Amino acid sequence: MEFSLLPGGTICGEARVPGDKSISHRSIMLGSLSEGVTRVSGFLEGDDALATLAAFRAMGVTIERPAEGEVVIHGVGLHGLRAPSGPIDLGNSGTSIRLMSGLLAGQDFDSVLTGDASLCGRPMGRVITPLQQMGADICGDEAGRPPLTIKGNKALHGIHYALPMASAQVKSCVLLAGLYAQGKTTVTEPATTRDHTERMLRGFGCPVQRDEAGVISLSGGASLQATTIEVPADISSAAFFLVAASIAPGSDLQLSHVGINPTRIGILNLLRLMGADIEVHDERVVGGEPVADITVRASQLHGIEVPAAEIPLAIDEFPALFIAAACAEGRTVLRGAEELRVKESDRIAAMAEGLQTLGVQVEVLDDGIIIDGFGAAGSFGGGVVNSYHDHRIAMSFAIAALRGSAGIQVHDADNVQTSFPGFDALARGLGLQISVSNAVESDD
Ligand code: S3P
Repeated sequence: MEFSLLPGGTICGEARVPGDKSISHRSIMLGSLSEGVTRVSGFLEGDDALATLAAFRAMGVTIERPAEGEVVIHGVGLHGLRAPSGPIDLGNSGTSIRLMSGLLAGQDFDSVLTGDASLCGRPMGRVITPLQQMGADICGDEAGRPPLTIKGNKALHGIHYALPMASAQVKSCVLLAGLYAQGKTTVTEPATTRDHTERMLRGFGCPVQRDEAGVISLSGGASLQATTIEVPADISSAAFFLVAASIAPGSDLQLSHVGINPTRIGILNLLRLMGADIEVHDERVVGGEPVADITVRASQLHGIEVPAAEIPLAIDEFPALFIAAACAEGRTVLRGAEELRVKESDRIAAMAEGLQTLGVQVEVLDDGIIIDGFGAAGSFGGGVVNSYHDHRIAMSFAIAALRGSAGIQVHDADNVQTSFPGFDALARGLGLQISVSNAVESDD
């Protein structure tokens, strides 16, 4: 699939973007492992969360989908999963493979987890190491990449694990394995990362503590009780429109029911630091997660030095933020973001290449990027950009066209389906001049 964008436009109106991807994954996992029936609304029907759903069905869990965004999970309890009949294919989804590796390490059956070419190129040593320390039998290929082979019937024991990198996936993997471990499992992280696993475990009645020193702990053996989950709109999907409305003159947009968990709001903090006009209204808590409506209007942004503490809070939003930085007045500097190199693509390289194609001055760093914004008087040039099959790269270059001087084509945009089904229709309704064609896949 390919996006074609005409230059210009404004972003106006009201929208609710699809459900949060991280929370949707966790709702299937914890719902399946609980006792009773869990009802989920606002579920993200994107390929990634659906891969998790299919995986649990393949392990014997009855999961109904009565209406769009609604999922009913008939939990089988912590020890009720059955061996899948073959390898579990998790497509493009890093969250599925890393979180599931933790809970599958505690089962009494063997399993193999695999995925697409992008997923099979991503590092899994970060989950293999702590799981082996807990007594799991898990390995990847020679380079520590998928497929992951997990042997069942291993007695896991709790450990203290100091995460070497700020990763919610690794933290969650260890905590989920901890449900099956003897004794206490504790985790510390070098910087705060998204805490949906901890919040949702508490919602299912499993006490997870976090002390003043930031030590997160749980004890093995607690049973989970089914609950009701309302998934907020995904701030990571909202991010494209927060940036779009900020950079396109005359824009005025309202986004409703957006998740504003403090561990996810780096994009709001950074855009505001750049001078964005963003108002957050009607803050409320729904099912243990804070949500709000957000109004964003166009404004002239200025470059910033990205504060290190904001990096994990905005980790998925940097591709969109780089588009904002290109439109800003002055220089934006990001350092300490080496994790961006091991996402669905190398997001520093992919964004730098596309920005340069569109005429933006950038300097690539090992762990970040320096972007010289073209400011109020400037614009992106036209061109053909490769998204490297990365959903967030494709959507970022789509919104760049709002400040383009000529058309932009984005190659290999199929994976937008992983996190944001209906992106093009929603974006078109709000004013982005986007059309979609089914181009022959490039073979990069
Ligand atoms: C996620 C954690 C983050 C994020 C990913 C979703 C999660 O990954 O990039 O999109 O749901 O836990 P890392 O843990 O690798 O930072």
